[in-house]
Amino acid sequence: MVAAMDILITKSETSKLRSVDLINIPFGKQFTDHMLEADYIDGEWKNVEIKPYQPISMSPSNAALHYGQSIFEGIKAYKHENGEAYIFRPYDNFKRFNISAERMQMPQVPEDIFIEGMRKLIEIDKDWIPAHTDHSLYIRPFMFASDEVLGVKSSDNYKFMVILSPTGPYYAAPMKIYVEEHYVRAVAGGVGYAKAAGNYAAAMYATAEAKKKGYDQVLWTDAIEHKYLQEFGMMNGFVIIGNTAVTPDLGEGTILAGVTRDTVMTILKEMGLTVEERAISIDEVMEAFAKGELKEVFGTGTAATISLIKELRYKDTVMKFDTDQWKISPEVKRRLTAIREGREADTHEWMYKI
Ligand code: COI
Repeated sequence: MVAAMDILITKSETSKLRSVDLINIPFGKQFTDHMLEADYIDGEWKNVEIKPYQPISMSPSNAALHYGQSIFEGIKAYKHENGEAYIFRPYDNFKRFNISAERMQMPQVPEDIFIEGMRKLIEIDKDWIPAHTDHSLYIRPFMFASDEVLGVKSSDNYKFMVILSPTGPYYAAPMKIYVEEHYVRAVAGGVGYAKAAGNYAAAMYATAEAKKKGYDQVLWTDAIEHKYLQEFGMMNGFVIIGNTAVTPDLGEGTILAGVTRDTVMTILKEMGLTVEERAISIDEVMEAFAKGELKEVFGTGTAATISLIKELRYKDTVMKFDTDQWKISPEVKRRLTAIREGREADTHEWMYKI
């Protein structure tokens, strides 16, 4: 741990906690009593503060609102039965955050603000971590430009914040996915690997179109041939063919390097599966389905954890699955949840004690 930078702490006089039901809580709708805020001004991080959760004021000319220099992360904290609290792989998200920052021409956030600030914030709001299985405290670090100017240029000033939201599972039920072959999420040389706010904005129209057709999410394909799988909505994707789990490789920066994706690859290997990170086309998926070799399809993400996919539609081909019969992805989810909740050994040191 690095030395803690001076963090000014102002505690809330009252807590909202008693009015919140921490069981069956929907994703991202409730926020804890405190938040962390820091400013990047004149080339330096300053004003690192934990204070009561409250609105922030900004000028209508705030550059992030106009040109979208804004990035974020999603991380989760868990409470173990003995009351100890842990964050899942925070350093991996910290690294990815600064990779996103670099791509979006934003400053690096130092470890003593990102990790130590987040740790301190969670320590203060520890009672908000749900102890119920499949529930956690979702941590949302984010940074946005704070210059007040309409000229198009990278901002000189930024704000970094962390807010916390107790949550249950993001997608509770198996999902129906529409394989997208017109709209595009990412292209080589673009910003697909960055967790940039604009990537999510750019996905909304296609997602709404898929919803109109009765699907929950799109499966993004490559921008050139619309053939190779990229991300599954806001998640990384896995298909199990025979005894092999295949996930699209990170390519030329078109896929977010998911921390859950990496975790799931490790767990799958420990379960005895062969794991391949490589280009996989929708034709290969359809062929495996036709031969009865396509066993399971699922998405992974911090918010989603593991989401089973019960239907995949590509053009006029509909592939339906009986997810109740699946053995692999439910077992991956069980193992991951047990490690996070402290019921199974954390042999990879994924859990960071608060
Ligand atoms: C996450 O899994 O943390 C995500 O970023 C998805 C999200 C936008 C809800």
